[in-house]
Amino acid sequence: MIRVAAVGDVHLDEDVVGRFRPALERLPDHADALLLAGDLTRHGTAAEARCVAKEFGGLGVPVVAVLGNHDYHCDEVPAVVQVLEGAGITVLEGTGVVVDTVAGPLGVAGAKGFGGGFAGRCASAFGEPEMKAFVHTTQGIADRLAEALAGLAASIRVALTHYAPVPDTLVGEPPEIFPFLGSYLLGQAIDAAPPALAIHGHAHAGTERGTTPGGVRVRNVAHPVIKQAYSVYHLHGGSGTDDGTRSGHERTGHRT
Ligand SMILES: [Fe+2]
Ligand SMILES: [Fe+2]
Repeated sequence: MIRVAAVGDVHLDEDVVGRFRPALERLPDHADALLLAGDLTRHGTAAEARCVAKEFGGLGVPVVAVLGNHDYHCDEVPAVVQVLEGAGITVLEGTGVVVDTVAGPLGVAGAKGFGGGFAGRCASAFGEPEMKAFVHTTQGIADRLAEALAGLAASIRVALTHYAPVPDTLVGEPPEIFPFLGSYLLGQAIDAAPPALAIHGHAHAGTERGTTPGGVRVRNVAHPVIKQAYSVYHLHGGSGTDDGTRSGHERTGHRT
């Protein structure tokens, strides 16, 4: 059994540094790895990434991240990734990694994801080139996520995205914006090589728990949803998953 902690949408900047760290200092007592589900910064600057590095670096457990749309805003993605990786945080984009935890190997396939919507209410690659490009972007990301998942040589695997793979975890958000919060194509990618758990963020007003059509448990760990420094999920071999203790209380609440 591996204990996986996860949080997303921490939106770090100078004024947020230190908010999560007290709870994170005790992380190894509660979890064997930490997953960060994107929107780690407010506007995606290298300076903000240094705040993330300060807050989430050197925790004593492997830390694996994907970026979110906020982390792309200032077009400094290479610098942001460099800063995070310099702090020992593995950043995935259509790629996978098997990290060695004290409880055994954990496979993580990660991608930011993108929008498009869900069955019956989704964009399709038809008409204008701009619409085709939008859908092809999501399809390409989903394809790479599926490949990364299938390629993980680990009995316990997790899919990590920023955008949502199912609508269940968006409940609470206005239905009109669901197509900008996720895509069924990500859910299909996850079901093609089903992991023990799928983690995402992005939907600040969403719901924590959902399930893919194929039965994979999905958890929206956006900080405004879980309202604590991290949630912990207990993963077993195969597809077994228990939601574990909710032990990551940070010192103060987080403004979204
Ligand atoms: Fe966010
Ligand atoms: Fe986001």
